Order: sequence, then structure tokens, then C-alpha cells
Amino acid sequence: MKAPAIAIEHASPHAGQVVTIRGWLYNLRESGKLLFPIFRDGTGVLQGVVSLKEQPQAFEALKGLTQESSVIVTGKIQTEPRAPGGCEMHIHAVEVVQKVPESSPYPIQLKEHGVDFLLDQRHLWIRTPRQAAILRIRAEAIRAARNFMDAQGYTLTDAPIFTPAACEGTTTLFEVNYIDDQKAYLTQSGQLYVEATAAALGKVYTFGPTFRAEKSKTRRHLTEFWMLEPEAAFAHLADMMDLGEGLVSAIVEGVVKNRARELQTLGRDISKLEKIAAPFPRITYDDAVKVLQGAGNPAKWGDDFGGDEETLISKEFDKPVIIHRYPSAMKAFYMATDPEWPELSLSFDMIAPEGFGEIIGGGERQSDYETLVRRIRESNLPEEAFQWYLDLRRYGSAPHAGFGLGLERTVAWICGTEHIREVIPFPRMLYRVYP
Ligand code: 4AD
Ligand code: MG
Repeated sequence: MKAPAIAIEHASPHAGQVVTIRGWLYNLRESGKLLFPIFRDGTGVLQGVVSLKEQPQAFEALKGLTQESSVIVTGKIQTEPRAPGGCEMHIHAVEVVQKVPESSPYPIQLKEHGVDFLLDQRHLWIRTPRQAAILRIRAEAIRAARNFMDAQGYTLTDAPIFTPAACEGTTTLFEVNYIDDQKAYLTQSGQLYVEATAAALGKVYTFGPTFRAEKSKTRRHLTEFWMLEPEAAFAHLADMMDLGEGLVSAIVEGVVKNRARELQTLGRDISKLEKIAAPFPRITYDDAVKVLQGAGNPAKWGDDFGGDEETLISKEFDKPVIIHRYPSAMKAFYMATDPEWPELSLSFDMIAPEGFGEIIGGGERQSDYETLVRRIRESNLPEEAFQWYLDLRRYGSAPHAGFGLGLERTVAWICGTEHIREVIPFPRMLYRVYP
């Protein structure tokens, strides 16, 4: 009878049975007449053991085998509390699918490498258990986010990638040469488009890649990142703060519930994530300036917050904190003004704990036609390109609001990774578009 092929993550219930795994040789320790290989298959790692005396053919096939050679291995699963995953394999047979040539060994050794080297080898680096765990957590975060939005009655409406104009300021636009020398730009945000679909469908969201020609080389910036952007008609700032904290709670809960093993692989302190449940603390911009000043930061009213300020504020709380009602001057042209204090916008940001920075930005939109036209002019934006957007205020304008959640910032915080470049399969950054 042929042994069933199983995924390593499901190995332990097969204790006592002969099974086959298909994967790669991650590491090999040789000790005289015994070999101790470690295999990986993308779902986990499995330690094996084979002796020359009992299985000479399997022993010969594995002896001297090079790291990352692809293999199909059959053997008996045995409970072994000291092994990763709680079991190991007593190997009966090994089929080498491709042997990595000794003359050109796998470039990533099981030792510390510099990050520039690893980024050049990103197509291989993702094979290491830590990187694979991060990518599984990212996928789980996306699943949890989409499930939450769908359950809230929001309809997915995808926004375009090629756009005729800026959404988040002209300094970070990627210009592309569109057909017949027309100019187009890679989208900075799907917001303007979900404002249109919200007026068509009520409650909508878009989830896709967005682009910023960020000249900043920080641990929080990518030039290509993914954003989830809900938008709802007849909704206000407070509705979006509620939705944002519900969404972030659902993402964290989904990852903690379904990816505990991966969080453990990363050495993440799960108790910190278990505390993340709505409601989150909310403070006004005005109060945030006072918090900063109280902590000895030189911030003055009217200053925008950078990474240092965000980190200082986040340290005051063990949950994400919502800062709302920033001065209009520092926010985009589309923000609604606060009727109670007209210098302020009906905006909010959500700052992740532990110094991971802003994960959400959003608010209520300017729904008044005249004011919006004035703001477009003041921002030196090309009015022609916004005619379709102004139509949304000409035909049945209504209060509406939304936000954008940065996926990589959120996942970096959940994983506790130092830099967001590790939480996207192929990061695009200042000076890096390879591989
Ligand atoms: O605050 P931002 O710029 O807001 C917007 O784009 C709005 N139009 C969204 C909306 O209301 N629909 O970006 C939203 C989020 C930020 O909070 C941050 O998490 C993430 O997107 N983000 C970045 N992530 C990685 N690299 C960058 N360069 C980012 N810029 C923004
Ligand atoms: Mg922002």
C-alpha cells in the first residue's frame, strides 16, 4: 500500500503510521552512522532520523545531500516531545527530486546574513520558517479583514490602479506614460473611487495595492503597499472610528485564533495581542499635543506628528489609540471641516501600540460642492481631472465617511517585526524593485 502524502503541519496525528512528505532539505546533521535531517514543506518543519544499518538506501540518498534539495520522503511518524511539532520521522525511503549542485550551494546559510543580502535574495529568503510564518499571518489578516467587512454589509468594489489625478498630494505621485503619451498616475488611494461606489451601493470597500513615491527611508514606508478602504454613505466620523476599531480587533482576533503557531515561531508576545479588543482609547489632536508636551516632546499646536511623536503617544496605551480632529491645514483637500471648530477637520488616525505607527487614516468627506472646489484650487490640483469627483457633490451629495487601513503596518505590528519590508512577499522601497 502506498503511504499517504501529508502536510508537515498535520504530521503529529499520524504517529505510528507510515506517511510521505514532499518538500526540501532544510538542514542535515551527520553523526557517524546516523543522519538527522530536517525537512520543510512550507507548512512546517519535520525532524527525521535514519541509520545506515537499518535503511542503507535512504541513508546513502541523504548523506551529503545539499541544503534546499527537493525530496520526497517516506517514513514512520513517531511522537517526540523534544522535536519541533512534537514528532519526528523514522525514514524508510528518500527520493531526491533535484539535488542542489555542490558547486553552487544555496546562498542563504543557516546563520545571520545582512539585510541587503537577504533582500536581494528575497525570492529564496521567503523559504525560511520565520518569513513563511509572516506571510501566513498576512494572509490570515486579509481573510479576517475581508470577512469582517463582508459581515458588516460592505460590498467589495475594486478601485482602478491607473488614475488621472492625485488623491494624497502631488509630491508622492508615480507618473506613468499611458497610451499615446497621455499622462496617468499609479493610484495613491482608492478613496475617491469608493466615494463614487458608496453613492451607488451604500456601504463599500476596496482592497488593493496603492503606490507612493516616498522618498523616505524608514521602517514604516514602502512605495507599494496594500490598503483596505471602506466608505459609507450617510456616515460620519464617529461611525468610522467605530468601524476601524472593530476591523482592527477582528484582524488581531483572527490571527491570534488561527495563526498562534506562526506567532510563536516569531516569538511574538501573544498576551499583548489578546488585549486588543474594542473600544480603543480616543483622544483629540488637541489632547495629543498636550500628551506630547507632557512627555517632554517639543510639539506645538499645528505641527504634524512624525514617527517619533506617534511612538511617544502609543507608549501611553496598550491598545491602538485613535487621534481625531486634526487641523485641516495638515490634512488632504477632501476632509470635511468640524462645524464646532472650523480650523479642524473631521479626520482621525489610528496609531498602533508598541511604536508601529499610523495604521489607519480617514474621516468624514467634504460634501459641499463650493467648499470642495475651493479646496481643490487651494491645493493646486488640476480641476478638470476632478470633474467626475465633483459630480458626486452635484448629484445627490450626502455626508459620507471612510478610511484606509495600511495592511503592512498592521501586519508588522501584529508580527512584531522591526521593518515592514518583511511583511509583503516582494517589498518595493526607495531604490529597490528587485527581485
Ligand atoms: O493616511 P493615508 O495616506 O490615507 C489615505 O490614503 C486615505 N485616502 C485613505 C482613505 O480615507 N480611504 O494612508 C492610509 C494608511 C496609513 O494609515 C498607513 O497605514 C498606510 O496607509 N500607508 C503606508 N503604508 C506603507 N507605506 C507607505 N508609504 C504608506 N503610506 C500610507
Ligand atoms: Mg495618514
